[in-house]
Amino acid sequence: MIILSIETSCDETAVSIVEAEGDFPRATYRILGNALFSQVDIHREYGGVFPALAKREHAKTLVPMLERALREAKLLEARVHTLSPEEHESLHTILFREPGLGDTFISFLEQHTIPQIDLIAVTSGPGLEPALWVGINFARALSFAWNVPVVPINHMEGHVLSSIFTTDSIPQISFPALALLISGGHTELVLMEEWLQFKRIGETRDDAVGEAFDKVARMIGLPYPGGPEIGARARRARTDNLPAFATLPRPMIDADNLDFSFSGLKTAVRYAIEGKVLTADEIDAIARDFEDAVTAVLLKKAQRAIDAHSINTLIVGGGVSANTHIRETFTAFFGKEYPDLTLYFPPQNLSTDNSVMIALAGHAQVAHARTYSALVDLKADGNLSIETAHT
Ligand code: KG4
Ligand code: ZN
Repeated sequence: MIILSIETSCDETAVSIVEAEGDFPRATYRILGNALFSQVDIHREYGGVFPALAKREHAKTLVPMLERALREAKLLEARVHTLSPEEHESLHTILFREPGLGDTFISFLEQHTIPQIDLIAVTSGPGLEPALWVGINFARALSFAWNVPVVPINHMEGHVLSSIFTTDSIPQISFPALALLISGGHTELVLMEEWLQFKRIGETRDDAVGEAFDKVARMIGLPYPGGPEIGARARRARTDNLPAFATLPRPMIDADNLDFSFSGLKTAVRYAIEGKVLTADEIDAIARDFEDAVTAVLLKKAQRAIDAHSINTLIVGGGVSANTHIRETFTAFFGKEYPDLTLYFPPQNLSTDNSVMIALAGHAQVAHARTYSALVDLKADGNLSIETAHT
C-alpha cells in the first residue's frame, strides 16, 4: 500500500509518500517521496516556536511540500479539470479555518490527477494545537478530494518507530522494550510489552529535555534551536579539554523513581553565568557541563528502568536523540554493562521531526483498522498521550 503522511505538530512542515509491502511489523518500506520544510529560520528571531506563525507557515507550505513529495515519487501528473460547485463548497467548509491553504489547495486539485494513494496518515498530537489543525484539515480535504481514508497518528509513536527503522524495514525486537523519548516537548520513559502497547513509567515533572537545551542555549547567547548549537559547542570543549565552568546538579539522579526534572539544572546555569560576560571558551565549557549533566541523568534513569523491568531493548527517540554525546555515552555504557541489551537510535535524518515516521505509524495503525473518512471529526490534541496511541 502507498501511504501519504503529513506532519505539522511543531515547526517542521513535512509530507512523505511511503510504500509498504507486507503487514506491520514485517513489511518492506520504500520512501518514494520525502519533502520537509523547516521553519527554524523564521522562528529564530523569536527565540523559540511562535505558534501563530507556525500555523501560517504550515498553511503556506503544505501544498508545495505535497507537490514536491508527489513529484519525487513520480506520482505528480498534470491535467486540467474543474471541480464542481459542490466540491468547492465542501473543500471550503473543511479548509475555512486555514487561511492561505484553501485557494492553493483547490488550484492544485484542479491541475493534477488523483494519485494512487491508499492511506493518509496525519499527526493529531501531541504538539501545538493551531499547528496540528492545519495538517489535520489538509488531510481531511485530501481525503475528501481523493476519496482515501485518513488515520490520526500520535507523534511520539512516530518517534519510537523512526528510531528502530533501518533502511527499509522494522527489525524484530525483543520485548519488553523501553523507549526513552526526548524531544522539545517531552521527556518520558515508555514501556512496551508488545508491539505498540505503550505504558508511561516515567516523565519530566517540569521542562522537557529539549526545552532545557533550547532555554540554556538562549541564556548563553546561542540561537534557536539550541540543541544542535549546544552539541557543537560542547564538542569543542571536549576536543580542547576545557576545564569545568560550573559544577551543575544532576536533578533527581538518585531519586528512587523514573521521573525527571530539568528546570533546576536550567536555573543552576543561570546562577553560574549571572553578571558575567562569557568568553567563547566559557560558552563551550558551559555547553559541555550542561550536556554532561543531562546525559548522566538520562542514562541513570534509563538504567533504573531497564533493571526494574528486565528490559531487552532500549529505543531512544525524539529530537534530542540526535545528540552525539548522548549517543556515544549510551552506546559505550550499555554496550559494556548490558551486552544483551539491543540499543536503537534513529538514523540522523529521522531523529528530529519528519513525516516518514508518521507513515510508519500509519502503517502500524492499518492492522488495527482504525481509519476515518474525511467527514468524521478528526481532532488535534496538543496533550495526546502515547498510552492512547492504539487503544
Ligand atoms: O522531536 P523534535 O524535532 O520536535 C519535538 O517533537 O519537540 O525535537 C526538537 C528538540 C529541540 O528542543 C532541539 O533543540 C532538540 O530536539 N535537538 C537536539 C539536537 N537536535 C535537536 N538536542 C540536543 N542535541 C542535538 N543534536
Ligand atoms: Zn518530535
